Amino acid sequence: MDDREALFDSLAAHHWAVSDTLVPSPLYESLYHACRQEWDAGHFREARIGRQHSDSLRIEIRGDSICWMTPENAGMEADDFLAWADTLRQDLNREFYAGLNSAEFHFARYSEGRGYKKHLDQHHQNTQRRLSLVLYLNRQWNDTDGGELCLYSPDNDAAEILRILPKPGRLVVFRSDIIPHEVLPCVQPRWSLTGWFRSDHVPD
Ligand code: OGA
Ligand code: MN
Repeated sequence: MDDREALFDSLAAHHWAVSDTLVPSPLYESLYHACRQEWDAGHFREARIGRQHSDSLRIEIRGDSICWMTPENAGMEADDFLAWADTLRQDLNREFYAGLNSAEFHFARYSEGRGYKKHLDQHHQNTQRRLSLVLYLNRQWNDTDGGELCLYSPDNDAAEILRILPKPGRLVVFRSDIIPHEVLPCVQPRWSLTGWFRSDHVPD
């Protein structure tokens, strides 16, 4: 079975999938450099959650800073990645009749000690987000470095089903609407590219 079929099988069976081989290493390595460049240029902003939370509470809930990939800051690496992601999106549509018609991605950096409490990626305002993708860009990551992504059962959000270390080039894909997940605090800066395949309303 090839890597892509394995991903589809896992998604069909569990609503999540992890692959260490799907994203070619030159691609994720160049994305790491692009991400560091954006960071060094001061283009990251602290991520936001709902407006009802104070700033101090917010940082306890969600501790990352992000930088959106836009046509303006998309260098060659971003173009290559977006082309790669688009092929995956079309394959998913063929496989699952998924109706995924757009994508959005941001780089994310968690400082040491930061994480992201349990949440769903699809909330009331943005039901267009259908599939979540996280690609880890860390150069190296040890078992003791923390920062695991924990996935919880769609049927019981107290039941942990998987704990995933953010290893270099590892890709995690999961259903945005039903998979509760959490980022555990990390002990070194944690870099990733995170995004969503969406089903946006297309006017008739
Ligand atoms: C998110 C998120 C997971 C991760 O940005 O919504 O849950 O492993 N990220 O970085
Ligand atoms: Mn999330």
